[in-house]
Amino acid sequence: MSDDRTLTNRQGHPVHDNQNQRTIGDRGPATLENYQFLEKISHFDCERIPERVVHARGFTAYGTFEAYGKVGDEPIAKFTRAKLFQEAGKQTDIAIRFSTVAGGRDSSEAARDPRGFAVKFYTEDGNWDLVGNNLGVFFIRDAIKFPDFIHSQKPDPVTFRQEAWRQLDFISQSPESLHMVMLLYSPRGIPASYRHQQGFGVNTYKWINEAGESLLVKYHWIPKQPVRSWTAADAAAVQGDDLGAHSKDLYEAIEAGDYPQWELQVQIMSDDEHPELDFDPLDDTKVWPEQDFPKMAVGNMTLNRNVDNVFAENEQIAFGTGVLVDGLDFSDDKMLVGRTFSYSDTQRYRVGPNYLQLPVNQAKNAKVATNQRDGQMAYSVDGTGENPHVNYEPSVQGGLVEAGGPGHDEVGPEINGRLTRKRIARTNDYKQAAERYLLSEDWEKDDLVANLGGDIATVPRHIQERMMWHMYMIDDELGNRISEITGITADDVRDLGPLATQTLTEDELARAANLGKNGPREVPDVMTHCVPNERDVQAGEAVTA
Ligand code: HEM
Repeated sequence: MSDDRTLTNRQGHPVHDNQNQRTIGDRGPATLENYQFLEKISHFDCERIPERVVHARGFTAYGTFEAYGKVGDEPIAKFTRAKLFQEAGKQTDIAIRFSTVAGGRDSSEAARDPRGFAVKFYTEDGNWDLVGNNLGVFFIRDAIKFPDFIHSQKPDPVTFRQEAWRQLDFISQSPESLHMVMLLYSPRGIPASYRHQQGFGVNTYKWINEAGESLLVKYHWIPKQPVRSWTAADAAAVQGDDLGAHSKDLYEAIEAGDYPQWELQVQIMSDDEHPELDFDPLDDTKVWPEQDFPKMAVGNMTLNRNVDNVFAENEQIAFGTGVLVDGLDFSDDKMLVGRTFSYSDTQRYRVGPNYLQLPVNQAKNAKVATNQRDGQMAYSVDGTGENPHVNYEPSVQGGLVEAGGPGHDEVGPEINGRLTRKRIARTNDYKQAAERYLLSEDWEKDDLVANLGGDIATVPRHIQERMMWHMYMIDDELGNRISEITGITADDVRDLGPLATQTLTEDELARAANLGKNGPREVPDVMTHCVPNERDVQAGEAVTA
């Protein structure tokens, strides 16, 4: 056997026998000083790191982002100075991790669950992570609710089953979830594959131009592949056979050279409160209507390479909403600030404090020069400047110096306010939920009604009643159709009135007083942010066969 195939241990010692422990005599006992065996078995004992607290199951691929250099007909520099967007044809390396949310690392990819859509851009200015999902909105609008929300979605601490009553209990008391619920219980809640779905940044970010002027921005990934979904029955048929159908589909498409693509589009609005809108632009339970804020293309992403090792590149990849480059910024979206703390916090625990030294997380196309030193698993020292003794700043002894630049962080409007715990005022939780339902195609509505009605029908009566009240607040037709499944009518729940935590508008109060008798709502004629969705034929055939 050639030398380069010789098995060694991690100390570089050749392993002469990898099949038999060292023992005294042929039949034992085994000796404990056997370093080769101890290293092998104890490394194995430590092979798993904690799985992600959410989005544990996922799959990573690599590719390229190519910029268009403009927004509509205008040079993009007018809106953002971020270098990766500036020149038409400029290419940036990317990694993407698709995921489900609630299940563990080996759970089903055919689950009804939002899909994570996290993109890492390795830019020349350092890394930019756009950590989004496939549905475009979220369940809550303040990060302080996230642990409660996730607890309600994860398995019951006693039965260890995902229980509909726990999920709907939380949702019934959190009407801001209803827009997301309309999407999640529809076929869009089970995409046919990671390739056949949209992606969204969801939270509101900012763009900063050369003059330091800021804009609010939302990101959309529109697939070149058609959007396809599964009904509950389609998913059940696939899942019976394969829990990892999405990873398989993506891996095989890339291996076959059938590279999936998405166009990155943005919506922008001026950086202010927009009192003229019936929602707050910093509220991630809302979409920005396309009629008023058209989507504009800024580049294209192609996935063309699979990982070499799932653990190194998928388990250990780490994304965060705080990972931005010059020209891109946070907004004051209350989810975004909470997320920005949470991601790197969990990654220091999950992967270790030096997670950014791992190849998949390094800012590989930028110079990295910090004074961060030591910690578990530190294996490299970056940026010693001229003098390796100086791991501090300021110094006159040749250490690193700050980049400086006047007013670098002085961007956006001036903010004044008292410390408070006030909620976002323009809640308006039913209108976009209704539009989402009413703009769905018939097959999507049928599936949504069956799925949501089916779940509501199984939960304790007082949760059912509150959910039915919300269904009628969204739309009479929806309420009536779900009422046929639950047997609870508008008359049964009208007197419930709003939740104590709700502040309804006058229109909503009138709707509540007239619950179930409000008639059809006015609906815009374009889909707000969702491109048409088709049922995945292959899975459909499997079910009907
Ligand atoms: C305040 C609300 C939120 C908090 C506190 C939060 C927190 C977290 C945490 C702790 C992780 C695990 C990260 C890791 O272990 O590497 C995670 C993963 C993830 N989150 Fe969130 N999240 C929030 C909301 C959202 C929203 C609104 C979206 C979608 C827009 C989202 C998308 C994702 C994605 C895609 C991942 C997986 C990233 C990967 O593939 O490694 N999260 N989140």
